[in-house]
Amino acid sequence: MTIQKVMVIGAGQMGGGIAQVCAQAGYDILLNDIKEESYTKGLAVISKNLSRNVEKGRMSEEEKTAVLGRITKSLDLQDAKNADIVIEAAVENMEVKRSIFAKLDEIAPDHAILASNTSSLPITEIAAATNRPEKVIGMHFMNPVPVMKLVEIIRGLATDDEVYEAVETMTKKLSKVPVEVNDFPGFVANRVLMPMINEAIYTLYEGVATKEAIDDVMKLGMNHPMGPLQLADFIGLDTCLYIMETLHEGFGDSKYRPCPLLRKYVKAGWLGKKTGRGFYQY
Ligand code: CAA
Ligand code: NAD
Repeated sequence: MTIQKVMVIGAGQMGGGIAQVCAQAGYDILLNDIKEESYTKGLAVISKNLSRNVEKGRMSEEEKTAVLGRITKSLDLQDAKNADIVIEAAVENMEVKRSIFAKLDEIAPDHAILASNTSSLPITEIAAATNRPEKVIGMHFMNPVPVMKLVEIIRGLATDDEVYEAVETMTKKLSKVPVEVNDFPGFVANRVLMPMINEAIYTLYEGVATKEAIDDVMKLGMNHPMGPLQLADFIGLDTCLYIMETLHEGFGDSKYRPCPLLRKYVKAGWLGKKTGRGFYQY
């Protein structure tokens, strides 16, 4: 299975990062978003990241130009007709993802793999929105994509071995490390990480300590590079809430109930770094 043309759905923080690392590895990218301004913003971040690589001597100006030249704007899902693989990185919402996958199934060529960068949603359920569940797979990158080595690869119930192997090979070509995990809510990364973040939010909500103190405890006491509240802002509080809801609903266990303070912030539109305000102001 040869992969050359990659379509990325969603030019937000994850989609932009995925497009960047794929273009750097020599793939041709169609970067799709429903909003032109999101595409423009996403491309500006990619360009800034590449410029930093040039400044640091990790890349020449010519290479930067070539990488950017491999990224094409797409505002129409019909562009999937030319893709060998589609990596979806739109919002963490099952209805949105199922609707995108059902449309992609009609548009993309028969050989195309349909991958989702979902943080927590069951791949099997996303795959069931298509007539090609054997070609649907989870490809979960970590934020910030250009820096983090891990890609969790998640097989749905029907995913073909050949599809798994093609995605594993592609992950290695991106200089990332693939780790295979099973299809359960939150997989491994967010099953472990997100309850810690949610608990940190409860700690703030219950007045146990200030946000700075909570983050300092985890940074200085556990050597985490960021405190959990800063990390939540960095991930996006909407994404954190969606993930907790998926764990809560998926396991039916009250230990995963999202903290009311997290809900309140999301309702207020305080989504973290991307909106300029979350637990901290940016
Ligand atoms: N995009 C591209 N590069 C970035 C970046 C970004 N958003 N943020 C930082 N970098 C680069 C910097 O340019 C710098 O590289 P060079 O100096 O070599 O050019 C390097 O990363 C280190 O950055 P800084 O010195 O500015 O800051 P730092 O040492 O604190 O590192 C960090 C930044 C790598 C983000 C670090 O704070 C960290 O590891 N934080 C935790 C990240 C994490 O846990 N990610 C997982 C989130 S959960 C997830 O992704 C799954 C999910 O489904 C929600
Ligand atoms: P984001 O809000 O930064 O970006 C989402 C982008 O998708 C936006 O630009 C939006 O305009 C676009 N979009 C929404 N609906 C669309 C559609 N129907 N078609 C095309 N584009 C559409 O979000 P993000 O942080 O990049 O997260 C994207 C996905 O990646 C989510 O599923 C999330 O759970 C997952 N993820 C996030 C992180 C993280 O740390 N933020 C880490 C790993 C995985």
